[in-house]
Amino acid sequence: MNDILINKTISSFQKNFNSTREKIVLSPGRINIIGEHIDYNDGYVLPAAIDKIICFAFEKNNSNISKIIALDLDDEFEIDLSVEVQHDEKVWTNYIRGVIQQLKSNGFQFEGVNCVFSSNIPIGSGLSSSAALECGFLFGINALFNLSIKPIDIALMGQKAEHWVGINCGIMDQFSSVMGLENKVLKIDCRTLEYEYHDANFSDYSLILFDSNVKHSLMASAYNERRQQCEEGIAIVQHNFPEISSFRDCTEQTIIDLKEKMSDDVYRRSLYVVREINRVIQACDALDNGNIELLGALMFATHEGLSKNYEVSCDELDVLVNLAKKEESVIGSRLMGGGFGGCTINLVKKGYEEEIKNKFSKLYADAFGIELKIYDVKIGNGTSLYIK
Ligand code: GLA
Repeated sequence: MNDILINKTISSFQKNFNSTREKIVLSPGRINIIGEHIDYNDGYVLPAAIDKIICFAFEKNNSNISKIIALDLDDEFEIDLSVEVQHDEKVWTNYIRGVIQQLKSNGFQFEGVNCVFSSNIPIGSGLSSSAALECGFLFGINALFNLSIKPIDIALMGQKAEHWVGINCGIMDQFSSVMGLENKVLKIDCRTLEYEYHDANFSDYSLILFDSNVKHSLMASAYNERRQQCEEGIAIVQHNFPEISSFRDCTEQTIIDLKEKMSDDVYRRSLYVVREINRVIQACDALDNGNIELLGALMFATHEGLSKNYEVSCDELDVLVNLAKKEESVIGSRLMGGGFGGCTINLVKKGYEEEIKNKFSKLYADAFGIELKIYDVKIGNGTSLYIK
C-alpha cells in the first residue's frame, strides 16, 4: 500500500520541480492502546506508530524560499525563510510554518527546500496526521541540512510547533510518530520522557479501528479547556498537600478528599486522570503477561471515564463502544486520541473480524446514517528516511 504512495509522491516531485528528489521521508500516524489525556498530566501512555504514513520528497533549492506541495489537497504554498513566520488561514500550512518557526527560534541554519508530500493517514480520525506532518517535515530538514537534531528533540520541537498552531497538546503523538518500532508498543513516562518498548502481542485478538467519520471540530478549544481544568485541579491538590506536585503522586482518595474544594468539572477531570494513570500501569503488565482480557476490560473502563468524567466523547463514539460491549468477541473498545469524533480502538477475537465489521457497519449506518470506516492496524516504524 505504501509503495503506491511513495511512487506517487516521487513522480509528482519530478513533474513539479523537474528534478530528482534528494531525500524521501516516511512519517507514520499512531494508535494508542491506552492512556488518554494523561500525557500532559505526567502519566504513562502506551501508543505505537502504524503503517499509515505521510511520504515527503525533498530537495534543497539554494534559495531562501521553501515551496511545499500537498498533493492530496491539490494545494501549495511558499514561505520566505528570511522573514518572521506568521500564521495563515490555510490551516494545513500552519503545521509546517510552526516547524520552521521552531527551527528558526532554536537558531538552526537551513535554507529553502522544494517539497511534495502525500498521505494515507486519515485526517481528523485521531491517528495524529498532524504529528506525522510536523515530525516528517522536521526530519527531512534535519537530514538535508545535517542539523544533528536528536529524535527526541524532533518530537519535542514537533510538539511545540503544534502549540504554535494552537493546540496545547502533550508529547504522545510526536513521540510515537518519531520513536515507533515495528511490532512494539511504546510505554512512555511523560514526566521524564523515559520509554520502553513492549511486544505488541495481542494473542488471539486483532486490533481494529472503527472510524466514526465524525470530524472533531470542537477539538482545539475543548482540548485546551481540559488541559486548563487539569492545571486547576493539580493547583488545588498542591495548595492542600504541598508535598504533591503531580497527579502521578495522587491517589483516588486524594482527589475525593478535595471534592468540596473543586468545581464539579475540575473534580471529575482530576478523578479521571488519576484513575487513567493507574489503568495504564495495569494495562502494560496485562499485555506483558498475555492477559488480553484484562487489557480489554481496562480499555472499556477508560472509555467510560472519557465519556462521563472527562467528557470528550460524542454519541457516535458511545454507540460504537456500546455495540462492542454487547459482543462476546469484542473484549475491549474505547475512543482513541483527543476525542469528540475520530476512531474507537477495539480488540476483536481472531476469526470474528469480518462478522463484527459487517455488523457494526450496518448498525452504525442505521443509527446515524453515516458510513463507518474501518482500518486494520499494523504497527510500524517511526519516522525514517526511505532509501532506494
Ligand atoms: C491528542 C494530543 C495528545 C494527547 C491525546 C489524548 O492526540 O495531541 O498529546 O493528549 O490527544 O490522549
